[in-house]
Amino acid sequence: MNNTRILTLGRSGQMAQALAAMAAGRSDIEMVCLGRPDIDLAQPESLLRAIHRHQPDIIINAAAYTNVDGAETETSLAQEANATAPRQLAVLAAEAGCPLIHLSTDCVFDGTLPRAYRPDDATHPLGAYGRSKLAGEDGVREELDRHLIVRISWIFSVFGSNFVTKMLELAQTRETLRVVSDQHGCPTYAPDLAGGLIEMALAALQPGFQDWGTYHLAGDESVSRHHMAVAVIEESLRAGGAGADVLPISTQEFGAPAQRPLNARIDSTRTEQVFGVRIEAWRENLQRCVRQLVTGETRT
Ligand SMILES: NC(=O)c1ccc[n+]([C@@H]2O[C@H](COP(=O)([O-])OP(=O)(O)OC[C@H]3O[C@@H](n4cnc5c(N)ncnc54)[C@H](OP(=O)(O)O)[C@@H]3O)[C@@H](O)[C@H]2O)c1
Repeated sequence: MNNTRILTLGRSGQMAQALAAMAAGRSDIEMVCLGRPDIDLAQPESLLRAIHRHQPDIIINAAAYTNVDGAETETSLAQEANATAPRQLAVLAAEAGCPLIHLSTDCVFDGTLPRAYRPDDATHPLGAYGRSKLAGEDGVREELDRHLIVRISWIFSVFGSNFVTKMLELAQTRETLRVVSDQHGCPTYAPDLAGGLIEMALAALQPGFQDWGTYHLAGDESVSRHHMAVAVIEESLRAGGAGADVLPISTQEFGAPAQRPLNARIDSTRTEQVFGVRIEAWRENLQRCVRQLVTGETRT
């Protein structure tokens, strides 16, 4: 049987690196990860060239404008990368007969529900980033039947910049970290997420697969940002790294430029039912991740 060819858009980003690392350990997958300048979301012809050249069985779009606060002022850049480009990508994928997994975010919700968000709950983004990502989802839905929109959330890993790497950096220079305690979400270890996305891609390519649509995939436990920061510092100290006092503050006190959903919890039940994919054990994986970051051990 031929290997499955996956074209991942994004190379330097956290999820693209996690996907590349996961695919490298599998003999049934050939993954090509492309970033700038090979592909640029602002240049649709670069996406067309990549599809023609690599002839993928499926595309994973892990490239996006991801600066949630920056999107409030760089609104057109966010729109271009997160709304215009995914629609164009979906058109090109439809023309090529290629399905697409498009990554989206909990920021399409306003966080007012008293429970974790399900894929069919009403969307209502609070900020420019969430609005641009929601427009991207709509474009993919309208242009391509064979799509999986996978909303993900609160990702951490040794790759790139994320909440864990930021807390460890701050602990190097500060005695006290002030972290919001009224935002709740589901920490998700990027390698687990990458493994789950690859399983979803393989399942979607099986003959007769019909379950296209919108899914959520995140860790199975929810915590506050403050709780997660405390856990990061505990693991840092255990690994011989820096410590700091972690004080709870409110989102209002923190005063970030962009409003975020206080309830960012997403419910992955549908993904488990359809694909058998579930992400567990964020705390054990946090320990592994922080140890690697603190000690500089080889990445696994
Ligand atoms: N991280 C999270 O917690 C989180 C949560 C919810 C949803 N998501 C979604 O998950 C996906 C992946 O996120 P991530 O955490 O891996 O993001 P990331 O680390 O910020 O990586 C984003 C990638 O997009 C690329 N990119 C940005 N603008 C581009 C353009 N115009 N053309 C080509 N590439 C461009 C970046 O390339 P450069 O390095 O060249 O800039 C980078 O490789 C995104 O769709 C994001 O919205 C992430």
